[in-house]
Amino acid sequence: MTMEWDKLDNSMQVLFDKLNTALKRFGYVAFISRRYDHLGKYTLCTPYKFSTRSPWFEDWFQTKFQNVKGHSLVNENACYNLYEFGRYCSHLDGDFAECGVYKGGTAYMLADVLMSLSLQSKSLHLFDTFSGMPSTADKDPSGHKQGEYGDITLEEVKAYLNPFPFIIFHPGFIPETFRGLEDNRYAFVHVDVDLYQSTKDSLSFFYDRMIKGGIILFDEYGKIGYERSERLAVDEFFQDKPEIPISLRTGQCFIIKL
Ligand SMILES: C[S@@+](CC[C@H](N)C(=O)[O-])C[C@H]1O[C@@H](n2cnc3c(N)ncnc32)[C@H](O)[C@@H]1O
Repeated sequence: MTMEWDKLDNSMQVLFDKLNTALKRFGYVAFISRRYDHLGKYTLCTPYKFSTRSPWFEDWFQTKFQNVKGHSLVNENACYNLYEFGRYCSHLDGDFAECGVYKGGTAYMLADVLMSLSLQSKSLHLFDTFSGMPSTADKDPSGHKQGEYGDITLEEVKAYLNPFPFIIFHPGFIPETFRGLEDNRYAFVHVDVDLYQSTKDSLSFFYDRMIKGGIILFDEYGKIGYERSERLAVDEFFQDKPEIPISLRTGQCFIIKL
């Protein structure tokens, strides 16, 4: 039975490879990608011909991702990066924070890290209006508009994240909601606010408060449409800093505080 699947899988893969090659010849970005084998361990790494291990499709991570589905705009590959960067930083002193929470999916991932590692002495700080994009969105080059992502209430997000008592909510406008937290230190910060000014303000506050070796992960950095918003804010900020934003295939980028 396994042999049959393997054969079918390989011939399907050959077909997909041929289609990708043909698409590229006509100037199209090869878009057909799928799980490479029936165990879901490898995926085709377009535009390259090889496949790579894809732990975000493995059962252990899919089980975690089920908790987030319907509560996040972030896909499983990016959530996996978030989860693993969180785990990596959990051994450092300092709290975790997220700017841009929306329905709470990625916050759930980070809370899961702290819960699984019994690190509930750390707090997870969540910053969002919890009523949609602020008015600054209307002038942002990303094209987002005020009120977008407003189909949620703070109470609903609190109910979803109820299993995690170490979460501290900071509802309101960034950077105003950073007030009073000046003396805190952070091991990991997830910035997913999309907008130029919100990204700049988040960075201006957290950068100096990061523990050495701590990570800031940006969600939208490399995605089409964010060149003059989130990406520009990150690039400008790190122009005169020793850290270098490192791009990931997911469109995320990260810096490690030196
Ligand atoms: C893309 S969504 C976050 C997605 C979320 N991380 C997830 O798991 O799906 C962006 C969020 O940033 C918030 N946001 C953007 N700028 C903000 C600001 N200046 N103050 C507060 N919230 C802001 C919006 O309200 C919105 O909920």
